Amino acid sequence: SKKLLVDVDCGVDDAQAIMIALAAPNVELLGITCVHGNTTVENVCKNTLRVLQACNRLEIPVFKGAAKPILGNSINAGNFHGQDGLGDAPDPNAPSLDMVQKEDAVSALIRIINQNPGEVTLVATAPLTNLALAVRLDPSLPSKLRGLYIMGGNTESRGNTTVCGEFNFTADPEAAYIVLNDYQCPTYLACWEFTCYSKLSWEFCDAWLAQDTDKARFMAQIFRHSIKASQSEHFEKEFVAGTGFISCDSYAFAAAIDDSFVKESDHYPVSVELTGTHTRGMMIVDTAGFMNKAHKAFIMKKVDMEKFERMMMAALK
Ligand code: BDR
Ligand code: CA
Repeated sequence: SKKLLVDVDCGVDDAQAIMIALAAPNVELLGITCVHGNTTVENVCKNTLRVLQACNRLEIPVFKGAAKPILGNSINAGNFHGQDGLGDAPDPNAPSLDMVQKEDAVSALIRIINQNPGEVTLVATAPLTNLALAVRLDPSLPSKLRGLYIMGGNTESRGNTTVCGEFNFTADPEAAYIVLNDYQCPTYLACWEFTCYSKLSWEFCDAWLAQDTDKARFMAQIFRHSIKASQSEHFEKEFVAGTGFISCDSYAFAAAIDDSFVKESDHYPVSVELTGTHTRGMMIVDTAGFMNKAHKAFIMKKVDMEKFERMMMAALK
């Protein structure tokens, strides 16, 4: 089985991605580290516990990480995910934050990876602050990873947070820079435009939520807010060019879980813009080798969508 360690800012798509991993037969989820992003890091911890509770998997350890980016203040994505990150749905039985581990997320990343050298697949679907801090404390970390899967960045300078910035990279550009330059391990990126081109149809989403299970009912509750946001005219017509739901983070998880999920990818050195009038946080793809950088990342282009739908379906069974 595959050992997964995941770093999230538990919004709606992070929740969907975690549920895919929990349902995958070949996955051992070693822990979930939380970071600021879609909402505050406290909300992220709470949301993660709620997802684990909905799946009866509260034995999986949850760790609290950075509350802010390396520089400046955190942004959030409340407009899309709801202010609490999970659609502002009522949660009368939310687990207590006492269930969060005493060990912080950065220490946990370093400890767990060192305890399983060469075996851990790290998946990050949030601002990369925890990963950046971890590699500063332990520079040997990347060499001990089996692979790194990231949802973040963009390839066509289309932003979802600023003109040119995708959310996870824009929320902490310095951290994204550190991770893309210092994690010299097999690296796979699910970038914003790719996820836009790989939308799930609303017909699929309806059938997905119609499953007669507690997990499906939980998902229907937390999903409502972002369905509404996704179906707004501006969002579909101008913003993401087409109808359907974009479960961004689920692509990174699916690729980490199943080696045959990615059908086609580019292989280039990548980095992040740290200054610029409109471009801070934008990902740079060095197609012609100007950066003189040996390490290249795999940039996902095509994935097995039938397999993706099967994994999504299984997540709510
Ligand atoms: C990313 O930003 C967050 O809002 C989502 O959870 C996803 O990780 C998409 O740009
Ligand atoms: Ca996320």
